[in-house]
Amino acid sequence: MKKVKEVEVMESLVSFEYPKKHDFKLKYLAHYGFIRSLCIRGQKERILEFSKSLKDRYENFVQIGIGGSALPLEASLRFLDKKGVMERFLSLDNIDPCRIERVLSLDIDKTFFHVVSKSGSTIEILAEFFVLKERLKPDQIAFTTSEKGFLYELGMKEGIELFFIPDEVGGRYSVFSPVGLIGLAFFGFNIDTFIEGAKTAVRAYRNGWDFPNDFVNFAIGAYQDNKNILVMFAYKDYLYGIIDWFRQLWAESLGKDSKGQTPINALGVTDQHSQLQLYQDGPKDKAIVFLDAPAVCDFEIKDDYGFGYLKGKSLSQIMEIEKNSTMRALKESGADVAHLKLTKDDEFSLGALLMGLMIATAKAGKVLGVDPFNQPGVELGKRYTKEALKNG
Ligand code: PA5
Repeated sequence: MKKVKEVEVMESLVSFEYPKKHDFKLKYLAHYGFIRSLCIRGQKERILEFSKSLKDRYENFVQIGIGGSALPLEASLRFLDKKGVMERFLSLDNIDPCRIERVLSLDIDKTFFHVVSKSGSTIEILAEFFVLKERLKPDQIAFTTSEKGFLYELGMKEGIELFFIPDEVGGRYSVFSPVGLIGLAFFGFNIDTFIEGAKTAVRAYRNGWDFPNDFVNFAIGAYQDNKNILVMFAYKDYLYGIIDWFRQLWAESLGKDSKGQTPINALGVTDQHSQLQLYQDGPKDKAIVFLDAPAVCDFEIKDDYGFGYLKGKSLSQIMEIEKNSTMRALKESGADVAHLKLTKDDEFSLGALLMGLMIATAKAGKVLGVDPFNQPGVELGKRYTKEALKNG
């Protein structure tokens, strides 16, 4: 049977090789809020216009958010950044006061602040914002929140630009909402293409694109074989933000009712010289996904000064050889190993990969029998913090 075009596009962009030991016979599931809201309810034009108006006035961009209000943007910027925009970006996703010091070392008049909180009442976000607020003018701030709650009320009262996270989109699934899009547009990335990548992934998935199901068959299959740890081994620095984002997505979506697989980040080749000993010879409790994408810069070793076999090799070739050798050694040790590879490093591919991984996570929830869209444990911690602050 001839494949529909979108499936072919996705297959040429995302390849996933894995040992097929399980097949959960996953069906197409239509009702994910994060898919339904991809059209971001007409906010895209406003985001584009707004970001354009910021470009002449501001050099730096600070996102004040935590968890799902922070990681989606950081992951995307890190992936797309080839020109040093990360030097002009700061994520305040921790209330460590030293981060505020870093913000204050920037030229504040040239810095834009995007405050993101779906609930509008997360303590860390408000605390950081309150420390900075008196130094900022209302027109150098935007809020992204729900259409109700403290931040919404404050924004209305003080004339601060407001953007919205649709109700049906949970924090960690919010990359295609203003949470991710405002910062991407600020730094000049093409959010149309980014969203189109996600939409094409959804159309492909409806028409039989295997990746989301394959990912679940691999990871959750391993979990059912007592591999309680899922290592995401990124083989480019610029992929590290994605595995950090994914770590939250997988942990917070699936870790409930005494179930869940612990996601771990590793960076190739760096962690070949730290974590790898454990993966290779330690307990056989891990499934390992090697994540790779094109090399975006390279250097050749012209002379190895008589060392032997480095001459004529480029650094990216050495990385590739190291990755393949590490995969080989791990497979021989009995680990479950998969290879997830992107063939491009642009906005479209990023949108497609993030959407594919979000669909896979939602499907994994279905297989495990947990709700992948709630986070009762996180909410309990938030409640206890508020109670302790009130009493203290
Ligand atoms: O994924 C989630 O729901 C969480 O990680 C939230 O994004 C995080 O707790 C921040 O919540 P809020 O955006 O309501 O401030």
